[in-house]
Amino acid sequence: MNHRDDPVGTLPKKPNQTADFHFDHHAEAFVHGHKDINDEIRQQCPVGKTDAHGGFWVLSGHAEVTEAARDDVRFSSEISLLIPPSKIGRLLPLQADPPRLQIYRLALMPFFKPKAVATMTPAIEADTKTAIDAMLHRGRGEIVNDLGLPVPGRTTMRVLGLAPDRWEEFGRPINQVTFAHPGSTTYANAEQQIRAFDQKITEEIDQRLATPREDGISRLIAFRHNDVRFTRDELIALVRMIIFGGLDTVTGAIGNIVAILATRQDLQDRLRQTPDLLPSAIEEFLRFEAPIQGFARKATCSFSMGGRTISKGDRVWLNWGAANHDPSEFDEPALISLNRRPNRHLTFGIGGHVCSGARLARAEIRIMLETLLSATSRFDLTGEGIVYPRTIGQLLGKKAVHIRMTPTKDSADG
Ligand code: HEM
Repeated sequence: MNHRDDPVGTLPKKPNQTADFHFDHHAEAFVHGHKDINDEIRQQCPVGKTDAHGGFWVLSGHAEVTEAARDDVRFSSEISLLIPPSKIGRLLPLQADPPRLQIYRLALMPFFKPKAVATMTPAIEADTKTAIDAMLHRGRGEIVNDLGLPVPGRTTMRVLGLAPDRWEEFGRPINQVTFAHPGSTTYANAEQQIRAFDQKITEEIDQRLATPREDGISRLIAFRHNDVRFTRDELIALVRMIIFGGLDTVTGAIGNIVAILATRQDLQDRLRQTPDLLPSAIEEFLRFEAPIQGFARKATCSFSMGGRTISKGDRVWLNWGAANHDPSEFDEPALISLNRRPNRHLTFGIGGHVCSGARLARAEIRIMLETLLSATSRFDLTGEGIVYPRTIGQLLGKKAVHIRMTPTKDSADG
């Protein structure tokens, strides 16, 4: 048997005797079977080694993933957090360890404070309304391209102080690289376009060095902490991170959520009848399908975990997606429970690198869902339905979600 074609983790340990299973988050089988595969490897060994992509550890229990994410002494982030590694350039604070990590996070904090998110809300609402009105007008729409890409795209540009209409320059290549197989020509081409972001970011930095503005990039340039100020490379890496953090993640989330709701009229009805459920429902949808299924760390020393020895230099993949379905943390994890409490999902990570933009992401998702639900009395998948990517190894999302919409009387009149 060609073990690389085996969809699940239960594999003979040959040819690589040191591996526990063959787990490949880039395999096509993972696109449709990620929950089953994650369940299987978690049950088999929550700290296990795969022989995919040169070999790496996979942590898939909630307790193990949490422990690793909180421990930046044994688990370093100063590597590419993707497996296989990408060449898109360094992302900060994502790829930093303390003490520098805290300084980067301090610099980004004002971007995502409640007041900053509240200031951005009217523009997010306006962008969402424009996108949904256009779909309503046609009686149908494609959630990923018509809503999920432009709304976070325009929002991310505003965070930085770039013109909202420029989102496609950045958003399209990122979306392309996201769903391409590492090693494919599409991936290499998109990576090349992404490397060209550096020139664009540098130009924006230079303009603001000459004439400071009241915007995100100027704030990063002006940032001082004791005697620290950021180098040009650090500034580029911080801006790059906001672009990467802000775009496809939210796109993935809204596509995943609408894909579920379009086939679950009962959930749509409950949310329309009880809009107060929306915040906890969003947390549950994020738990159920974490857009980022996992991120890597590098072991800084040799140590034992779950009865296994992880050696210095080994790569360790923190499987947020599997942790979110761990029955020792969540009752009936395979069910969607709109008012699940507690819901300690790891979709935004946990510990020193917990997502800086989570508040903004939640606001964007809430506004998009609220607007969609209140403008329609129902929506369903059209015959074209859901178009799945061939890999979700970098992002669990959909390529397209086609819906037919039945407008409410008010939105049809208005
Ligand atoms: C549903 C949407 C999102 C998801 C699922 C998500 C997920 C994550 C995860 C899992 C991490 C932690 C990585 C780790 O521990 O290694 C992270 C970090 C980060 N995210 Fe998000 N994110 C989302 C939206 C956003 C948005 C909208 C922004 C900003 C515009 C953003 C900016 C960041 C930044 C700056 C970091 C790095 C934090 C650090 O390393 O200290 N994210 N995100």
